[in-house]
Amino acid sequence: MSERISVVIVDDIPETREHLAKLLSFEPDMEVVGTGGSGPEAIELATRLHPDVVLMDVNMPGFDGITATEQLGLASPTSAVVMMSVQGESDYLRRSMLAGAREFLVKPFTSDELCAAIRQVHFREKEKLGRITPAGTSAPESPEGPRGQVISFFSPKGGVGRTTLAVNTAVALASGMGKSVALVDACLQFGDVGVLLNLNPRTRSVMDVLVEKGRANEAIDAALLSHSAGVKVMLAPPSPEMAELVTVEHFRRVITRLRETHDVVIIDCPPIFQEHTLAVLDLSDLILAVLTLEITSIKNIRLFLELAHQLGYTDDRVRLVLNRADSAYGIRIADVEGSIGRKIDHSVVSDGRKVVYALNRGVPFVWSAQQAQVSQDILAIARSIVEHAEASGAAAPGKSAKPRKGLFGRRA
Ligand SMILES: Nc1ncnc2c1ncn2[C@@H]1O[C@H](COP(=O)(O)OP(=O)(O)O)[C@@H](O)[C@H]1O
Ligand SMILES: [Mg+2]
Repeated sequence: MSERISVVIVDDIPETREHLAKLLSFEPDMEVVGTGGSGPEAIELATRLHPDVVLMDVNMPGFDGITATEQLGLASPTSAVVMMSVQGESDYLRRSMLAGAREFLVKPFTSDELCAAIRQVHFREKEKLGRITPAGTSAPESPEGPRGQVISFFSPKGGVGRTTLAVNTAVALASGMGKSVALVDACLQFGDVGVLLNLNPRTRSVMDVLVEKGRANEAIDAALLSHSAGVKVMLAPPSPEMAELVTVEHFRRVITRLRETHDVVIIDCPPIFQEHTLAVLDLSDLILAVLTLEITSIKNIRLFLELAHQLGYTDDRVRLVLNRADSAYGIRIADVEGSIGRKIDHSVVSDGRKVVYALNRGVPFVWSAQQAQVSQDILAIARSIVEHAEASGAAAPGKSAKPRKGLFGRRA
């Protein structure tokens, strides 16, 4: 197999594609394995070729580079995206990075800048994958004593209500069911948990965990903020650029510690499929995959379920939560189930007034409006988490954390 960095070029202007391909043809360590002119083509090429790097134009008619990058995270998680744009606007940069792009080039760029960006993301990615493979196949398990349940809220798409559900489920478990609950904001760059709970990450956050290994547990305990509903909260860093200091290993340590000290650990995962997310999902007893009645959300969940299957997550470990279940704009729950080939496990109604009012006040609605249907739906999720813990014997260490089939290991 070639040692060269395989690159796919995606740009809607054919001359740009040719020009870039020509530039890269002079580099002995790179190989252009495909070119495409649209978002769907980018997905198709990446799924088929699994290139090391995808050079992606941000502005393409219809399905743009940002949407394509989001979906690439699922279709080919090992491909790193370098986004190209003519506008150097910070909004594009932010959205690209959120979607999972690793680098951002502003046109016009020089051949040196282009090659440097490709080499850099590729080597960074390779280093990360090297770290993932051994860690993923031997999930750390503490053999002694009972441990709490790790429950992650995941969705491959942002804006579906993941944070809202994670926060309110944590509060329901703590204040309504008397469980000791830790809530972790794993959306390291743009975490919203602090806003929903009116807690300030400048006071304490996951940044306080970054100490030498010997003091890790004390640091983790001290990094938690207490919310008056009884939840202990590990916030994301106060500003996005700090996020990259938090490694996957830090995350593993945090989760491993918190499940020793709490009945339930609730995690709000980022909507991108990167190594931190994978580490969290690997350690989860239950993955609550959140979707809404939108065609994009449904399609992405279907892709996620396929990936979950490849990763060796058993069906009973993944549950589907349909949020805003009554806001059906032409799509019925039965259609969703038919399309995904699975039953929806939980539904949560839409209640814009209660949810947004609670959000703006920083007070969770399950706490302030317990009788509302939306709160009752969350309580049902909380109850099912408790039932799951009881059914699985709660204290069976490692019971559900089966070694993952090496998705990334294939490349070793
Ligand atoms: N069940 C619901 N009813 C009404 N609005 C909701 C509901 N769930 C979430 N929302 C709103 O949808 C938006 C996105 O929710 P959020 O939890 O931030 O999503 P995510 O974490 O998936 O990006 C927020 O404005 C939130 O208040
Ligand atoms: Mg969120």
